[in-house]
Amino acid sequence: MKLVLITGGAGFIGQALTLKLLSEGAKVRILDNFSRQIHNTDSLPESLLDKVELIRADVRDREAVRKALEGVNTVVHLAAETGTGQSMYEIERYFSVNVQGTAVLLDVLQNESTAQNVKSIIVASSRAVYGEGAYRCKTHGKVYPNQREKSLLISGNFDLICPDCESVLSVEPTSESAPFKPMSMYGLTKQIQEQAILLYAKTKGINAFALRYQNVYGPGQSLKNPYTGLLAVFSNLVRQGKPIEIYEDGYESRDFVYISDVVDATSQCINFDGDFCGALNVGSGIATTVIDVASKVKSHFNAKTDIKCTGVFRVGDIRHNIADISAANVILGFTPKVFFDKGLSNFLDWVETQPPEDGGAYTSSVLELDSKGLMGRSNLASGLK
Ligand SMILES: NC(=O)c1ccc[n+]([C@@H]2O[C@H](COP(=O)([O-])OP(=O)(O)OC[C@H]3O[C@@H](n4cnc5c(N)ncnc54)[C@H](O)[C@@H]3O)[C@@H](O)[C@H]2O)c1
Repeated sequence: MKLVLITGGAGFIGQALTLKLLSEGAKVRILDNFSRQIHNTDSLPESLLDKVELIRADVRDREAVRKALEGVNTVVHLAAETGTGQSMYEIERYFSVNVQGTAVLLDVLQNESTAQNVKSIIVASSRAVYGEGAYRCKTHGKVYPNQREKSLLISGNFDLICPDCESVLSVEPTSESAPFKPMSMYGLTKQIQEQAILLYAKTKGINAFALRYQNVYGPGQSLKNPYTGLLAVFSNLVRQGKPIEIYEDGYESRDFVYISDVVDATSQCINFDGDFCGALNVGSGIATTVIDVASKVKSHFNAKTDIKCTGVFRVGDIRHNIADISAANVILGFTPKVFFDKGLSNFLDWVETQPPEDGGAYTSSVLELDSKGLMGRSNLASGLK
């Protein structure tokens, strides 16, 4: 029987993946420190507790990682700090958990005799490694733009412009061949994680998959963590009777991918029987605007809540995002099955079964970002609705 170690396995993606692997007959071991920013408890739900081996430890704890790797065939490395905005000022913590944590894992894999059964490593990378990703200029063709200039954002020009002719660019699906251009410390740590793991695996002659997850959502995602998860933030605000305040003009977009699709792609890697060492996008391949998301959340709850596009922007935010998922389809046979409307309604039905958050943590997280000089206000702010 295959033994799979999932670091960060108590988190959103980790728990859903664990259930799937158990249903496929694998043995699962979880190493997780039950980070306070995400978890209210330091235990797994009853339904999982007696079905997995649980090691409560930090991924930087070498001895714990050594024990966790004993006899393991496949490692799924999910343990990470995950907030894009927060990563811009908690830089040491993000590098320590994400980069040092990965270094400890690889060092143990390389040097400990009990860790030599590992034949495949899957690391949760992110669309954040691309920054803005792929765009097209009518005159100059494909462009991978740099971070937007603050002066343009202040003047309310949120769209990406061609560096050669300054015309507005249109977004295109980003494929894995796009250059690394992370625009947050989080994205940079994800780039380092995946490059380190792919380098190790190539040298060792084992399989490795750096899965560049897009915006993952669905039942089970943390409603407590104020630093990440647009849908969690919006649904918390609506349930608290507060307005949904959207950054920029609301027409920024994201590729939302449902949790069961992410789990399918990840388990396809675990069960892969060929040779592979590289990166794959895991998304829906469809862009949804943030204002559309807000209206759908509002209408699900039948709420009177205002939706305000504030013209405020966050340094390091990207404008649009669509993944090109053709490589995952060819290599893994991956096809997303859950469309956004259905996935959102599943998620919001689940939210209604959860205790409401008080909202204080989210307000503090926004104030914190502002106090660090990582937010700005465009001149359009007062004219936007
Ligand atoms: N959810 C998304 O939209 C998304 C998108 C792209 C990439 N990812 C990546 O996928 C992975 C899992 O994301 P998730 O959404 O399940 O996040 P999550 O926050 O729900 O889960 C992360 C888990 O890691 C654990 N953890 C954090 N620091 C740790 C440490 N030092 N030692 C041990 N465990 C630690 C946490 O307790 C948590 O259980 C992360 O690496 C994240 O960067 C997620």
